[in-house]
Amino acid sequence: MSMRTQALGLGYYLPERILTNQELEKMVDTSDQWIVERTGIRERHIVGPGEKNSDLSVEAARRALQDAKLDPLQLDLIIVATASPDMPFPSTACILQALLGAKNAAAFDLAAGCTGFVYAMTVAEKFLLSPDYNYILVVGCDVVSSVIDYTDRNTCILFGDGAGAMVFGKSEGKCGILSTKIGADGTGGQLLYMPAGGSALPATHETVEKRLHYLRMNGNEIFKFATKIVAEVSQELLEKAGLTYDDIDLFVPHQANLRIILSAMRRMKLPPEKVAINLDHCGNISAGSIPVALAQYLEKYSLKSGANILMVAFGTGLTYGGAVLRWGRD
Ligand code: ACO
Repeated sequence: MSMRTQALGLGYYLPERILTNQELEKMVDTSDQWIVERTGIRERHIVGPGEKNSDLSVEAARRALQDAKLDPLQLDLIIVATASPDMPFPSTACILQALLGAKNAAAFDLAAGCTGFVYAMTVAEKFLLSPDYNYILVVGCDVVSSVIDYTDRNTCILFGDGAGAMVFGKSEGKCGILSTKIGADGTGGQLLYMPAGGSALPATHETVEKRLHYLRMNGNEIFKFATKIVAEVSQELLEKAGLTYDDIDLFVPHQANLRIILSAMRRMKLPPEKVAINLDHCGNISAGSIPVALAQYLEKYSLKSGANILMVAFGTGLTYGGAVLRWGRD
């Protein structure tokens, strides 16, 4: 029997503060109706003053460890997928390692935007092939509100904050990761980026005045890329796993826009009960999107052991990727 990477525990955390479409109506020239019709989003959770990435990450991580019945000291590696760390360095994964007291774990951040969680899952799967690693914590967390220009109606309506975490281990059973796929098209880097704050444009008064420390996005181009890539990646992941669309018990898409999700559902002929959707109350929480959507689905509905979960994401980079996970522990 071959070894599989198994999901041992899952947890999430959302900041308490909620930003509604009605509040955004007072901030920019938009309407609840426009936002709901074009995106499906009604409200999103946003951090309060002083609340940061590691505050959300540590809560999600503690819940995932509790669900996995593991002690932080058992962790060999912590990966935090994020595009909005506490600070450029040290990594948020190191900050989290200290907060958890996971002193036996190596720790690093992974930058793949909204695709970060499935990228990190894929990395965890590869590490777990080695005898040196037995338990890996993967966190997807973004505080997108920290890089949002709340005078830009094109972007400020879309995003929210939150964290999701999963603990992975090894098993010789049937459940676990069946296939993964990650990829990138770096030529699309300018479609979603933050111009300043790195070595290209270090922070100056001028970069701040020109609002270069905020996320910039070409929504239409990302939309076209997303619908195409979600279809391609889903097909490839299922083929690799030896499954068809009929075998999917739950589809957990990146929660960017309801219209992108509906187009994928139509193509795969998936009924609503087989799709995890939380963007109506969470918006796009970037690297936190997929694990939070899965965790919230499992709060409401049960998933039998052996259920096939298809996860697919896309994001800045451009990056894309996904995984097929057979749910359960055996
Ligand atoms: N309220 C009212 N009107 C708006 C708003 C708003 N919030 N935003 C844009 N508009 C206007 C535009 O100015 C435009 O007006 P015009 O016709 O007078 O020029 C009109 O609405 C239509 O704009 P479009 O951009 O064509 O609207 P569209 O239907 O494409 O929706 C959206 C825009 C929601 C951004 C969509 O393109 C989208 O969701 N794209 C994907 C974005 C995405 O997924 N980003 C995350 C990537 S993942 C990551 O790594 C973070």
